[in-house]
Amino acid sequence: MNCPDKCRDNLLFNVNQLLISLSRTLDFAEKDLLPNHINHGMRVAYISARIAEKINMSDKNRFDLISYALLHDNGVMASMRRLDICGRQTTYNVESDPVHCLEGEKNLAHFPFLSRQKNIILYHHEKYDGSGPFGITGINIPLYSRIISLADYIAIRYSEGKGPDAIKNSIMKDACKFDPDLCEVVFGFSRHIEFWLNQKDEFVYKALISMLPQVKREFNYQKIHQISQIFSRIIDAKSPFTGSHSRGISEKTGFICQFYEFDDVTYWKMRIAADLHDLGKLAIPNSILDKPSGLTRKEFQIIQAHPFYTRRILEKIDGFDDITDWAANHHEKLDGSGYPYGLDKNDLDFNSRILACVDIYQALTEDRPYRKGMSHKDAIKIMNNMAREGLIEPSVTEDMDSIFRDSD
Ligand SMILES: [Fe+2]
Ligand SMILES: [Fe+2]
Ligand SMILES: [Fe+2]
Repeated sequence: MNCPDKCRDNLLFNVNQLLISLSRTLDFAEKDLLPNHINHGMRVAYISARIAEKINMSDKNRFDLISYALLHDNGVMASMRRLDICGRQTTYNVESDPVHCLEGEKNLAHFPFLSRQKNIILYHHEKYDGSGPFGITGINIPLYSRIISLADYIAIRYSEGKGPDAIKNSIMKDACKFDPDLCEVVFGFSRHIEFWLNQKDEFVYKALISMLPQVKREFNYQKIHQISQIFSRIIDAKSPFTGSHSRGISEKTGFICQFYEFDDVTYWKMRIAADLHDLGKLAIPNSILDKPSGLTRKEFQIIQAHPFYTRRILEKIDGFDDITDWAANHHEKLDGSGYPYGLDKNDLDFNSRILACVDIYQALTEDRPYRKGMSHKDAIKIMNNMAREGLIEPSVTEDMDSIFRDSD
């Protein structure tokens, strides 16, 4: 089977707006791990954009800087997973953890920046005096990293409840860690109270939107898939239970779409929907997600909220109408017994039914920390029963049996 490599349906797309929507979930997740980090990515992006404006950075570079800033901590989940400290009462100091810098840099390797620059995320905690995790000094640290480092420092202290004067004093005390020219720039505009008011949780989203350079790019869904893949890796890194769940679903969805000979646009939209179907899980605390069994009714209701969050995030993105439905309907059942809406066969289109089936198949066949994955045969047996009970689409189950039969 050939993988479609062309996608004709180009969109005039504001990539940063897409990123802001998606990275809001990243901010939720970071808040679960680091309680002070509310709207952290957005706040760092806003402060970075203010600095960039003052140093007359071009629109295009500012556009990339905002993307980097929104995603600067995208490696936190993978790092905490690797350090095995999720859900534990361990103090995690993000500012001195080089692993999240390494993981974050790696994860953005295929992000469609306007002009790719090396090591921005890798060095976002480097200190001007060389005392950072990798010992890089002065202007050897890329400019974007120097900006993000200072913005990050301010954002963390702001979230801890420190006021403008206290933050300025902290920067002056730690002056050797930051680019002196950038500190001067910040001292200039931070004299005005609006800079601090705009950082409040209720204003920071609008403040950031108002700083977005008007750079629209022609994007097709195949290119957007490069971004959704980054988020699918972040979602998978959140919990050992989800290991490679989103990646597995996305790949299998690809094979199914080829089997049905979907056009290229539908193929890539389905891959994006598969990548992002569990996006809402980023908003669910690990203390609940990582429980192998024995969920209380209340905890189960919290888990059931995840496709609802997926819908709330994706529905804001232009060109994502179908993707939103397919992704957010993956726990609905044909007889109306699913969640979160209780939709039934009259509401669920064929592509939503496909994703619901792939989700079940992937969940049954993948290994979990507390059990081995099932064989193809056993999984299909369970799915055939569900199809007979009127829960899932029988024709998809039957076709999946023939597509994946040899995978055992
Ligand atoms: Fe960081
Ligand atoms: Fe950060
Ligand atoms: Fe799910």
